[in-house]
Amino acid sequence: MARIRIQDENREITETQAICEFLKPFGICYEKWDVEGRIGPEATNEEILAAYAPEVERLKQAGGFVTADVINVSPETPGLDVMLAKFSKEHTHSEDEVRFTVRGSGVFHIHPANGPVFAIQVESGDLINVPCGTQHWFDLCNDRTIRCIRLFQDKSGWTPHYVEQGVHERYSPVCLGPAYVKPAAEFQPVVKV
Ligand SMILES: [Fe+2]
Repeated sequence: MARIRIQDENREITETQAICEFLKPFGICYEKWDVEGRIGPEATNEEILAAYAPEVERLKQAGGFVTADVINVSPETPGLDVMLAKFSKEHTHSEDEVRFTVRGSGVFHIHPANGPVFAIQVESGDLINVPCGTQHWFDLCNDRTIRCIRLFQDKSGWTPHYVEQGVHERYSPVCLGPAYVKPAAEFQPVVKV
């Protein structure tokens, strides 16, 4: 279940409908997909895509996406720190970043033009899009594991364009923020790279 944290307002949003309403002005859609029993723990990428084919096909039809793949990140991933450093600095893309989290968790920070910086923590079952041109960055949680379905209009659109403002340095990942008042059991510390 996703949760949103607005650090500057010391506020969190954890209820699905409230999350959707908060995200709407920023062009972000949040969906919770059913994950129970859909794939086994050792599912291959192909099995994951087959299991979620109905939902992926719906997104393709609605959003003009032409391809989907599965990305697997774990502590054993070669070059993991370099990869994570690439996306933990504020950037934009020239197409929507659409991610369905199958396993693991991570934190997107969004720096919208029309509102405060906020973090959205995603885990198994969470689908979000980061709209084209939206300033954002991403961190993994401390298990350094995430398995996601990605959708693309054009894979070249996922190249990060960096925003050289250093805003990301002012925001702690949502799981470990110093202003975090009520630690929840399901929150895990984040490794910031
Ligand atoms: Fe990104």
